[in-house]
Amino acid sequence: MKTADVRADIPLLDEVIYMDAASTTPTPKPVVEAMCDYYYHYNVNTGRGAYKLAVKATQKLDEVRKKVAGFVNADFSEIIFTKNTTEAINMVAHGLKLKKGDKIVASNMEHHSNLVPWLNLKKRGVEVEIVKTDSNGVLDPSDIEKAVDGNTKLLTVTHISNSIGSVQPVEELGKIAEDNGSLYLVDVAQSMGHMKLDFKGLNADFITSPGHKGLLGPVGTGFLCCTPELQEQMEPINLGGGTVDEVGEDDFKLTEVPYRFEGGTQNISGLIGLGAAVDYVKRIGTKKIEKHGRKITKMLYNEINDLEGTEVYGSPENIYGIVSFNIDGMNPHDLAKILDETRNICVRSGHHCAMPAMKHMGTYEVGGTVRASLHYYNTKDEVGTLGETIEKISSFWRDK
Ligand code: ALA
Repeated sequence: MKTADVRADIPLLDEVIYMDAASTTPTPKPVVEAMCDYYYHYNVNTGRGAYKLAVKATQKLDEVRKKVAGFVNADFSEIIFTKNTTEAINMVAHGLKLKKGDKIVASNMEHHSNLVPWLNLKKRGVEVEIVKTDSNGVLDPSDIEKAVDGNTKLLTVTHISNSIGSVQPVEELGKIAEDNGSLYLVDVAQSMGHMKLDFKGLNADFITSPGHKGLLGPVGTGFLCCTPELQEQMEPINLGGGTVDEVGEDDFKLTEVPYRFEGGTQNISGLIGLGAAVDYVKRIGTKKIEKHGRKITKMLYNEINDLEGTEVYGSPENIYGIVSFNIDGMNPHDLAKILDETRNICVRSGHHCAMPAMKHMGTYEVGGTVRASLHYYNTKDEVGTLGETIEKISSFWRDK
């Protein structure tokens, strides 16, 4: 599929220049149609009824789990559906039964979702060490090597920073965690769907992903990927219907993994959409998506970096999909508003739910950055339009 074919499936792209993929991506028609098909023809609950439609809906959800597992080179039982990445990380943070003296190591480029659940454990006496990245927001593996010690139960890092797009050396970090005997979580929220990701190859114990960003799936979907052995050691945080095999007045017996982590009625239509989204991304091809992504990311970085009075964060050699920038002295929200009002360009502005990262990049005090985040549907023309518009605004701002 070419970029134009994907654009034809997303009507919203005729109305705006959409550059907020790191927040969420617009949903292509086949994904919406799969959800409509569920609502029109088998809109019943899963994992419960014995009638034909209930069996069909349950089988469809199993097919989605199989598709997602296949997409990330994991096994069927390694996929736990969640409503987003935040929920997936909280499942791990609460599920691991960490105690006083245990240590977590993370980077200063984490999204709040991969930071606050860990910081919250400090109340229980868990130590959290935050390792600083370099001036481009990239970790030096030797700093992680120094930080992990005998008490380190888990190393957790984002693959691609959601605030500036810097890419972490996740394979190398995985080896460090393994040598240290620590668990390893990679938050792939900004890389999933954009490039080939291999759960087994990453050597990670956990990967956490949304369905509604790079995968082009619906909001309210995501997943946690981890082995059944680890799941057995974890405590489910959302108990109730669907999580048990036997219940008495005094006790209960958990059902098998991964279902014991999926309490209550699931976001069935969303997950059906997620399955269709995986098919859709496979039809485009992750190799093609990544190649296009790398090209337009670099192009946009250079467009803005070449202008007088602008600052772009991160190194062009080591960012993917996200270009974060400021016009000197201008509030990022004001700039984002002007882009929207004048050219219908949708970008996120502010601290991007990553305040420590913004502090590290020196942008916290100025209100953060403007963040343009891209996907396969973005064109070179759109990148050019954003560049030209920034040039005009910046020159007007300097002359005022
Ligand atoms: N995590 C999303 C973002 O970075 C919401 O915008």
